[in-house]
Amino acid sequence: ISNDLYPNASLPPERKDSGVPYVRQGLHVESYNDFDPLRHVIVGIADNQHIPEACPASNEKIPAGSPMRGGKAGRRTQESIERANECLNGFAKILEDRNIIVDRPGAVDWHERITTPDFSISSGFGVMPPRDCLLTMGKSMLMAPMSFRSRYFEYLAYVDLMREYFESDPNCMIEQAPRPRLSDDSFRMDYVAAYEYLSDAETMERSLRKEYSTKETDILFDAADVMRLGKDIFVQHGLTTNLAGIRWIKRKYESQGYRVHTLSFEDNHPIHIDATFCPLRPGLMLLNPNRPLFKGQREIFEKNDWEIVEAVSPAWDNPPALCYSSTWLSMNTLILDHKTVCVEASETGQMEQFDKLGFDVIPVDLRDAYAFGGGLHCATADVWREGTCEDYFP
Ligand code: NVA
Repeated sequence: ISNDLYPNASLPPERKDSGVPYVRQGLHVESYNDFDPLRHVIVGIADNQHIPEACPASNEKIPAGSPMRGGKAGRRTQESIERANECLNGFAKILEDRNIIVDRPGAVDWHERITTPDFSISSGFGVMPPRDCLLTMGKSMLMAPMSFRSRYFEYLAYVDLMREYFESDPNCMIEQAPRPRLSDDSFRMDYVAAYEYLSDAETMERSLRKEYSTKETDILFDAADVMRLGKDIFVQHGLTTNLAGIRWIKRKYESQGYRVHTLSFEDNHPIHIDATFCPLRPGLMLLNPNRPLFKGQREIFEKNDWEIVEAVSPAWDNPPALCYSSTWLSMNTLILDHKTVCVEASETGQMEQFDKLGFDVIPVDLRDAYAFGGGLHCATADVWREGTCEDYFP
């Protein structure tokens, strides 16, 4: 946009607060998978995190008997926030010491009640985990249409960074998926009402029938339900991603030459694929032994000579207090390249398994940040990995 009428149109705009232009030299946005050499990543922060009151989408993901069920709304304690930040900052430092660029999201104060014309909820959630909110697909970064009401405005924490990426890399595109309404019409409210009384066996039955509290009214997906393997994109159907969401992903990315596949696992709380089925390097997948793939879904991997190994058991019998996730965060790791992996430091069995699979293992102390939204993969979002868009499943 540059002609005589607009002499300044090619200058990057300035940030309101500091006046520093939105440009960083050498910045590059591109990533096609979770295992090529990592060059630039976002690591979440624990500041201002709240436990929001339960919403129709959130209760269903919490196992029966968990203290998180029903929600104990309010700000997380300052002590737990500081400890989680100590973990996240330590993780960021490990990555920076390996010359990986690390960005942190902006802090948003979620204290106020969130009200839209369609719903109202006690507070927002936090600025963790970035993996749920941001989907880097090639040279584009997309903000996902998440199903938790408390996370409706979470993208605000990334707006400044996205703007900087957009101005600094002329090939980078920043995008936002259609915004959902998340009104009561978006959910099976009768399921939501009954959920509190259902056992894990009953929720499993419902999950096997592919019935979740989210309806098909909105287009919904979390970026963490999307697994990128070069030209092939695998999306988990479950609590946080509905079929309309998968259809949207398919239509958008297939028009760009990707192939989109739906994946389903025997799991009564199918949410986020990255503690269930994780790519480790070309030709190797790690599968949660408690969440087998549905019949027929191994074929594409086996036909293309990919090996699927089962993850060893987690080191812990229970997740930490006030954590939404399962103990399987043990297999939620960050791969730095085809032979280097960051694993949570207390997960000794998982570290040994990676060692046997030929990886150099970097232990990272992160368990005290789990309650803030997950493990090492959850806590990050790719900005740049070296490598190109390979066809692993020709
Ligand atoms: N469903 C997952 C989410 C982890 C990222 C779990 O095992 O809790």
